[in-house]
Amino acid sequence: MRITLIILLLGLFAFHTHAQELPDDFLTADFHKERRKALRQLLPKNSVAVLFASPVRNRANDVDFLYHQDPHFYYLTGYKEPHSILLIFSEDQKEDGQTYNEILFAQARDPRTEMWNGRRLGVKGVKEKLGFSMVKDHKTFKEYSLSFKKFDKVLFIDFLNDIRDNPRDDADLYDLKQQFKNKASIPSEFNAMTNRMYAIIQDGTQDFQAKKRQLYSMSRFNPGALDDPVIREFMGVQDNEMAMKVMKKVPSTNLDAHSLPSFMGQLRETKLEEELVLLRKAIDISAVGQIEVMKAMRPNMSETEVQGIHEFVFKKYGAEYEGYPSIVGGGNNGCILHYIDNNKPRLGEDLVLMDLGAEYHGYTADVTRTIPATGKFTEEQKIIYNIVLEAQQAGFEECKVGNNFSAPNQAAKRIIDKRLAEYGIIKEGERHNYFPHGTSHYVGLDVHDPGTYQPFQANTVITVEPGIYIPDGSPCDKKWWGIAVRIEDDILITEDGWENLSGRAPRSVEAIEAMMAQPSALDDFILPDLGNKK
Ligand code: GLY
Ligand code: MN
Ligand code: MN
Repeated sequence: MRITLIILLLGLFAFHTHAQELPDDFLTADFHKERRKALRQLLPKNSVAVLFASPVRNRANDVDFLYHQDPHFYYLTGYKEPHSILLIFSEDQKEDGQTYNEILFAQARDPRTEMWNGRRLGVKGVKEKLGFSMVKDHKTFKEYSLSFKKFDKVLFIDFLNDIRDNPRDDADLYDLKQQFKNKASIPSEFNAMTNRMYAIIQDGTQDFQAKKRQLYSMSRFNPGALDDPVIREFMGVQDNEMAMKVMKKVPSTNLDAHSLPSFMGQLRETKLEEELVLLRKAIDISAVGQIEVMKAMRPNMSETEVQGIHEFVFKKYGAEYEGYPSIVGGGNNGCILHYIDNNKPRLGEDLVLMDLGAEYHGYTADVTRTIPATGKFTEEQKIIYNIVLEAQQAGFEECKVGNNFSAPNQAAKRIIDKRLAEYGIIKEGERHNYFPHGTSHYVGLDVHDPGTYQPFQANTVITVEPGIYIPDGSPCDKKWWGIAVRIEDDILITEDGWENLSGRAPRSVEAIEAMMAQPSALDDFILPDLGNKK
């Protein structure tokens, strides 16, 4: 009896020390495996796609920023640790009698490091939990004998230059990238923009004039790319014959730094059902955050405090992070589109622009509401607010399969231009800067998620977020100064229409004022006075 009890207790103890209690609604290993399969199907013959985990970024001294996995890498693996490489092959590879078409080089277990910095899955854990059959310790990548020369294409994503070397570690991301560059013979002067421009020059589907236009528009982002002698020569070609001659001068290489981001955009633009479950949850949580703040908002609150209430709601529902730094701007601060200081001590009579998104299991919302700190809109605030609301509604109506990606933006802009002129804020037909951004982008693992920006497809989620921002000192009547309004919702495009996933959060003036009149649980959350001793 006693022995049985001891065994039972030991069993319980073992369970508690080994089993890690985690939420059970993460994407499954099968989801990530299927996504790798989908990418493999897009790969050209005899190619390999190489993806790296995000770098660890230093905050100060010996403290790093919270680690965030690269969303492409997470999408394809579910792996959340740094210093790792994923290779996906178009065809099976053979090594020591094993056949595989994907391999992950992952961090090995290390009890001492794990005691300080957190658990690792290790090679065995990645095999068991993430469904990879071929996993190796990242320290062995250096000796990995695969020849990259044999591939017609080696696809990768351009390297960012913010990776630090840890001199005590020869398998950190810095070293893994160096090792890959050596193995794949990537020259030190490699330029991804030039690589992409070469591909355009060699593209058999466009005439030389279309190619020149495309090169020219790309060069605006990287004027130095035109210094390349072949590209410069191509920009001077006047006929097909000359174009053919220059095409032959493009150096031949199997390095391709442009196709992989485009394949990933194609995959990530449309969401699978499992992704929509998480995205809906992130968005719902963010909408509840807006509702709770509407109830709790008081003029003596600070921007920081308002931010804290939203983020508390996120955490209360188990959202791990914010998908981007929270934006809470009172009055004129709302005119800074990505205002993240959030440090105004008292909101007073401000209209408060609140753009926040909970990140739930990797997927982020992007929801904005603009509300008066007093609970009642002034006449001027109401006028501007209602223009933005009307513009947003016009944008929603354009969210239809097959419509151009720019359709919601054009519809919203038409309304804003017309109404601003009617209220004398601009002259009829005058160009202005009161609506300086577009209405839409995709949302998903990234707040600005990648996609093709081609006509709308079903199962994509986009924002519709018109705004009017009238900074102090603007060339219009003073009564409009310091009014900034953005209303942002996350819209799912369906086969036969659209669905507002953030519609739970009130949008109309009346609905917002009614919600703000409701009591808040935080009314009774009174903290002690700290005394502010001098
Ligand atoms: N929160 C950033 C954006 O609305 O795009
Ligand atoms: Mn936003
Ligand atoms: Mn947005």
